[in-house]
Amino acid sequence: MALIPAAGAGCSGPSTPPPRVESPRTVNSEVEWDGFDPGAYVQHNYSVLRDDDREILCRIRDFFAGAKIAGADCVDVGSGANLYPTLSLLPFARSVELCEYSTANVRWLRDQISGYDECWDAYWQVCAEHAAYAALTDPRSHLARVGRVSQLSVFDLPRRVWSAGTMFFVACSISADRVEAESAIGRFLGALRPGSPFAAAFMLGSNGYRVGQHWFPAVQLHRAEVVASMAAGAYDVDMHEVRPTPSLRDGYLGMLLVTGRSRG
Ligand SMILES: C[S@@+](CC[C@H](N)C(=O)[O-])C[C@H]1O[C@@H](n2cnc3c(N)ncnc32)[C@H](O)[C@@H]1O
Repeated sequence: MALIPAAGAGCSGPSTPPPRVESPRTVNSEVEWDGFDPGAYVQHNYSVLRDDDREILCRIRDFFAGAKIAGADCVDVGSGANLYPTLSLLPFARSVELCEYSTANVRWLRDQISGYDECWDAYWQVCAEHAAYAALTDPRSHLARVGRVSQLSVFDLPRRVWSAGTMFFVACSISADRVEAESAIGRFLGALRPGSPFAAAFMLGSNGYRVGQHWFPAVQLHRAEVVASMAAGAYDVDMHEVRPTPSLRDGYLGMLLVTGRSRG
């Protein structure tokens, strides 16, 4: 995924930064999430499979295939209009709960899980390069059977419910508040039973993003902050940075994929 970055956020500024002026940071509850346009989001980010998403998908496919899980109750948090984290869980899932806050995205997700659009076939084909996924011959029907969409905030997730989970571009992209980003990571990890495999992805250094006519805030997260937020709730953590391809305008530094197991 390649969220459209903030304009004018170039990195060729003066060597001495101007004094920092603290401005109020937009928090999650201040944002009009129902104004999120899933059609525009898919069109920009996922209608064509990008190399960076392919790389991430290959990594999470191999991670979950090697995690020795079967018949798991799985969760994808802040699903938005992206099905590939859910697809990566599919062969191992007795159920997949797609938790999303925005009414517009919930509607889109309910429509998609009953029979997803053709553009997601390219993502499944990448999954199916692995034998564990190829064995699932009809992923579309399987998702319709095991998928369920819930309108739920990451901050209200129940504790220790799911046995595998994904959360993609959520903690970094639901407000401009660092404390909320940290809390979202903690809530996600806390929603998993101890020892559950998870994959989470973050935009690094994002200034915010446009979806259709609306502008959404982000936190300028750095790798060290993600590491620190993960430390309390996870072990066997592996991190991999992905540079966006083709490179987009300035405005974010790249993407960070984190896999590991929850402490619970
Ligand atoms: C940048 S989008 C990421 C969507 C998708 N996971 C992806 O990989 O492209 C951020 C998503 O978080 C959702 N969101 C915003 N506030 C949320 C909250 N409090 N709890 C859960 N999801 C939230 C938004 O509606 C949006 O779908």
